[in-house]
Amino acid sequence: MFGSADWISLGNTEELVKELETTGFLKEVTLQEKRIVISYHEGQFGAVHARCNHMGGPLAKGKLKKGCMECPWHYWEFHHQSGEAMNRAHEPLASHGGKLSTYPLKIESGILYINVAGETERIKPHYNPMQDVAREPKRAPGPIRVLGISTTAMDKEHPRYSTSEELLKSTLKKAETELGLETQFLALSELNFRHCEGFYSKSEKACTWPCSITKMDPKDEMVKIYEGLVHWADVVLLASPIRWGSASSLYYKMAERLNAVQNQITLRDRVLIKDKVAGFIITGGQDNIQAVAGHMLMFFGELGFISPPFPFVAHSLGWSSEDMEANMDIVQKSEYLHNQSYELLQRSVDLSRRTLNLI
Ligand code: FES
Repeated sequence: MFGSADWISLGNTEELVKELETTGFLKEVTLQEKRIVISYHEGQFGAVHARCNHMGGPLAKGKLKKGCMECPWHYWEFHHQSGEAMNRAHEPLASHGGKLSTYPLKIESGILYINVAGETERIKPHYNPMQDVAREPKRAPGPIRVLGISTTAMDKEHPRYSTSEELLKSTLKKAETELGLETQFLALSELNFRHCEGFYSKSEKACTWPCSITKMDPKDEMVKIYEGLVHWADVVLLASPIRWGSASSLYYKMAERLNAVQNQITLRDRVLIKDKVAGFIITGGQDNIQAVAGHMLMFFGELGFISPPFPFVAHSLGWSSEDMEANMDIVQKSEYLHNQSYELLQRSVDLSRRTLNLI
């Protein structure tokens, strides 16, 4: 058992409750170099470790809901007394989030005491295989690998012709048949992935690598993009339509989730994308090609990609000449655009070979 010297006074219980009323019934204290959240719910005090079991979010800045503390970063919940991870129905979640360390409390003569030495062991969250994407990037030996990403939005059940995807697919085919390269094709419209929820806006440390959504949600398929961009590909060809003067909405959905990659540079000076080349295929019935290409070049450059000279291939009919029926036909039959796309691939592969010293 503990001696009397082990118990530290936290103050008069009535005064403490009044104070906690002003802070949402959660308060962080540091005692003997331990950060602890003191909580109060339905007449019961709690004392647990103040850093979230997930990624270290500050639990005292979260909310207390039905006796569960909700982390402000990615909304994991923990019982305020037992420290157990809970689901959103406020029931124990034994299979997932583990358990926070807890600290014994006692009340004597109206004073609340805590025993820091009586800290229980933290149980870490269960391992999520999606976290494998966090391994250190290391290029595997072999020929140049080309990843094609189509960002055009379409219904999986009703696939239709896409001019940007057409040029991308025909180029990937030539990468295999004429250059003997390994290729992979990913269509964002076929992946189930969640929108970025802007955890970065709460704290730059809340935007983690791998993305906290990837860690929390094993069904989220953004992991395929992370695997492809960070680990597999040497050359990335990205294809997008132009929608109201911008790249496709799926392109932006993906780009926002790539903040987790870029953030590593800002936060930890850790560059995940090195010696990789990106080129772009942009098509639209209307114009604004330069703006779309400009964004892509800036964004992929900020991720760490380099681009060959003449880094994009583009096609549009222009604002007053929009004719979508004809446009599809024009692209499909255009030897010029297919050749241009292939030449973009060749320039990209050439740059990649020189960068990787594979010549
Ligand atoms: S839920 Fe707390 S740090 Fe992610």
